[in-house]
Amino acid sequence: MAVPTITLGNYQIPQVGLGVWQVENSEQFQTAFTAAVGAGYRHFDSAQVYKNEQMLGDAWVASGLKREELFLTTKVWLDNFPASRLKRSVDESLQKLQTEYIDLLLLHFPVTGLRKGAWKALEAVKASGKVRNIGVSNYTIRHLEGMKKYATEMPVINQVELHVFLQQPELVDYCRENGIVLEAYSPLAHGKDMKNEIVQQLADKYGKSYAQIMLRWCIEEGMVVLPKSVTPSRIEENIALFDFALSSEDLQTLKTCDRNLRTCWSPVRVP
Ligand SMILES: NC(=O)c1ccc[n+]([C@@H]2O[C@H](COP(=O)([O-])OP(=O)(O)OC[C@H]3O[C@@H](n4cnc5c(N)ncnc54)[C@H](OP(=O)(O)O)[C@@H]3O)[C@@H](O)[C@H]2O)c1
Repeated sequence: MAVPTITLGNYQIPQVGLGVWQVENSEQFQTAFTAAVGAGYRHFDSAQVYKNEQMLGDAWVASGLKREELFLTTKVWLDNFPASRLKRSVDESLQKLQTEYIDLLLLHFPVTGLRKGAWKALEAVKASGKVRNIGVSNYTIRHLEGMKKYATEMPVINQVELHVFLQQPELVDYCRENGIVLEAYSPLAHGKDMKNEIVQQLADKYGKSYAQIMLRWCIEEGMVVLPKSVTPSRIEENIALFDFALSSEDLQTLKTCDRNLRTCWSPVRVP
């Protein structure tokens, strides 16, 4: 079944992307990429710090897919936030990804004191045509509100940790009201809670896997979802989300699973 897309200005982003954090071995990367393309993924979420942009570049070029069929995301690492370094680092990312443009480039974290300059540099990179869409990651409402004072254009995406155990309703509402698309990272809570009774009961009810219930929650919320797996059967399972829908009653029940479970870094106290 075709993966729906969400509109980002003049572009479309596929609602499911393969997360590639912690895939650092090229053989494993190639296996995951091939399985993903076979299963219908055309969207890949990398980052400078993942050390696999080159592997992603090699894999897509070898796949025979056309560049325009793919949606490639990468993220500027913290060390590269100073403007001169940021521009150089984007050129390096382009080289490793073997492409003339990046579909989506994100600032990886709201670094205190550096994020304003980094955003201005990102806007300039976009104006140069090397990047089609710019956004942020790990930004709270406070960080986004701050941007209104200095941004010429606001981010189209905020990529944050979101899953049934960390639903962040205030941030989700804020992004919706401000036209910022949310990307759910660690949508399986990094595999740290695969035994919740409510999720399991829904998996049994719908005849779907536990992971599919978690991922479908993100889809129902209108988010882009970025599951990571290096296991071909799971890669297939994680995109097979479009032949069922959770009822509004079951979505209400899933609300009770929210328990502020953070499995990655927390930006909440970052000034
Ligand atoms: N912007 C940021 O700061 C940030 C931070 C964290 C993550 N991310 C992005 O989000 C992506 C996903 O997050 P994540 O890697 O933390 O975790 P995740 O997708 O929540 O979970 C990945 C874990 O779940 C396992 N898994 C995958 N599919 C499964 C299934 N169907 N059934 C059971 N287990 C399954 C994987 O194992 P196997 O691989 O062994 O199959 C892996 O151990 C990352 O790769 C990255 O692209 C971004």
